[in-house]
Amino acid sequence: MGFRLDGRKVLVIGGSAGMGLATAELAADHGADLAIAARNPGRLEAAAKALEARGGRPVARRALAVEDRAAVARFLADEAPFDHLVLPGSTVKPLLYSELDDANAREAFESKFWGPFWAAWDARRHMRKGGSVVFFTGVAAERTVKGYVIGGCINGALNAGVRSLALEFEELGLRCNVIAPSLVDTPLLDAVHAHDKAERLAAMAARLPVRRVGTAEECGMAAMLLMANGFISGEVLTVDGGHRALP
Ligand SMILES: NC(=O)c1ccc[n+]([C@@H]2O[C@H](COP(=O)([O-])OP(=O)(O)OC[C@H]3O[C@@H](n4cnc5c(N)ncnc54)[C@H](OP(=O)(O)O)[C@@H]3O)[C@@H](O)[C@H]2O)c1
Repeated sequence: MGFRLDGRKVLVIGGSAGMGLATAELAADHGADLAIAARNPGRLEAAAKALEARGGRPVARRALAVEDRAAVARFLADEAPFDHLVLPGSTVKPLLYSELDDANAREAFESKFWGPFWAAWDARRHMRKGGSVVFFTGVAAERTVKGYVIGGCINGALNAGVRSLALEFEELGLRCNVIAPSLVDTPLLDAVHAHDKAERLAAMAARLPVRRVGTAEECGMAAMLLMANGFISGEVLTVDGGHRALP
């Protein structure tokens, strides 16, 4: 009952694949109206059509990049008013510290930090009381993952920021939270670990207490909890199969 989202509108930037699509699917199943955005128009259209078939309601879609603040602001204004903003859409390439330079380090922050950060800022005035923002970070803030120095920095910054943000959101009758996943089998891994995806998944599965990697749906379920439970705010919800419990 508490998980129903009937009459609520959920926007997902990054809603055409992976955890964002899984969140949109669950939101559709639980009665929400949806608007999704992502960069690739073909994949976006296919996802929106599948969500319409699943939920039996029209799904708005917009091709945009989260780094394009003006385009995101237009999308938010055009879809207003809405209740929840879910922000899994961003791109951070795995790079060793020695491979970083000013351009690729800033590019990562533009995508995964500033994109969601300003999207939340611009969304506040369009959101109905009782609504929430869900950011996505990752376990690399708390566990060393080789090649994710910059990702760890971004995750840590957002994890820290959401606690302060929650205080100001509360004044507007809104909440904000973070989902911090460990390794999850999504299309992201096909792109960034194309050459060694199977080995990476197997190695992580062997290490984790739950003996497997996560699914997009499990992260979607976490997003549903954060949207539907009005008593959770300023939380970093780790969805990591016990990754942080490892010595
Ligand atoms: N999968 C993991 O193991 C893992 C682990 C820790 C943290 N995370 C984090 O969890 C979040 C979701 O990851 P995922 O694995 O579900 O990713 P995914 O499978 O690659 O899906 C990402 C979604 O966001 C969209 N997107 C990507 N970059 C975008 C951009 N710059 N602007 C707008 N939309 C964008 C993608 O569509 P387009 O490409 O068409 O734009 C797609 O709809 C990300 O923040 C990721 O860093 C993932």
